[in-house]
Amino acid sequence: MGVRNIINITDLNVDELNNMLDLADDIMNNKAKYAKKCEGKILATLFFEPSTRTRLSFEAAMLELGGNVLGFSEAASSSTAKGESVSDTIRTVGCYSDIIVMRHPKEGAPLVASYRTTVPIINAGDGGHFHPTQTLTDLLTIRREKGHFDKLKVGLCGDLKFGRTVHSLISALLRYDDVEFVLISPTELKLPQYMKDKMDKEGAKWTECLTIEEAIADLDILYMTRVQKERFFNEEDYIRLKDFYILNKEKLELAREDLKIMHPLPRVNEISTEIDDDPRAVYFKQVLNGKYIRMALILTLLGIN
Ligand code: NCD
Repeated sequence: MGVRNIINITDLNVDELNNMLDLADDIMNNKAKYAKKCEGKILATLFFEPSTRTRLSFEAAMLELGGNVLGFSEAASSSTAKGESVSDTIRTVGCYSDIIVMRHPKEGAPLVASYRTTVPIINAGDGGHFHPTQTLTDLLTIRREKGHFDKLKVGLCGDLKFGRTVHSLISALLRYDDVEFVLISPTELKLPQYMKDKMDKEGAKWTECLTIEEAIADLDILYMTRVQKERFFNEEDYIRLKDFYILNKEKLELAREDLKIMHPLPRVNEISTEIDDDPRAVYFKQVLNGKYIRMALILTLLGIN
C-alpha cells in the first residue's frame, strides 16, 4: 500500500472511518495497551496558522502513544519567514519525521505538500476549505453521544462560508442515510455553492434559515461556529457580524432534552458560558475525543496495530 494522506475526510471510506472510530473507543478504554505503540516514531506539526486544540491534541496523541514530536507553531519561527517555499519546507521536515500534520492559510496547501514528501501528510485545516481531523473528532462525538449517524437532523450555525469544519462535517455526513441539514447563517456567511451542489448531488435534504429560534426545536445536533475573523477582507463587516448569534439559556429552552450542542472551538461570543454546564453542551467532551481519534488516526496512517 502507498503512503496514506488525509487531505479530505473522504480520503477515508466509510468502513475505514468506522474502524477508526472503533479504534478510538478502544484506546479510550485500554490506554495502557497503546502506550508504546509509536516508540521511535516522530510526528511533526507544521502550523502556519494559530491553533490550540488541533496542534496540542496531535502532540498529546503522539506522546501518549510513546512517540516524539517536533515542529513549529507559527510561520514566523520557520524559514518561511526567509522566503522558503512550502514544498521545500515539507521536503525538509519529511527527512526528520515519520508523519506530518500541517495547517496552512492557503486552500490546497496540504495537498501540494503531499506531492513533495513520502511521509503521510495530515491536513489540519487549509484556509476556509477543509478540516478533516476536526470532522473525525466531531464524528466520534456524535457517535458516542447519539449512537448513530443515520436520520439525524443537524443544525449548522454561524460562519458557514469560511468555516472549514462545517464543510468537512457535511462531506462526511452525506455518506450516511437521510441526514438532514439546517443551515443557520446571516446572508453574507451562507454555505458556499460548491457545498450546496455536493448536498444536492447526494440527494440530501437541506434548508436555510436566519435565526437559531426558527430551527432549534427539532434538531438532534446544533453545531455552532465562530465568525472567522481572519478570513474577512474588511474589519467593519466582521464587527457587524461577529455577535450575530449568541446561544443562551433562553434560546435553549426551545430545544429538546436530547439535543447535543457542539462547537469545534475556539468560541468567541456565540455560546454563552451560562450553558456550559447544561448536559446538552458537549463541546468540551468533543475536545477530549479529539485526542483519542487523533491517536487512532496516527496508528492507522503509520500502519501500526
Ligand atoms: C477550528 C479551525 O481551526 O477551523 N478550530 C479547531 O481546529 N478546533 C474552528 C475555528 O477556528 O473556528
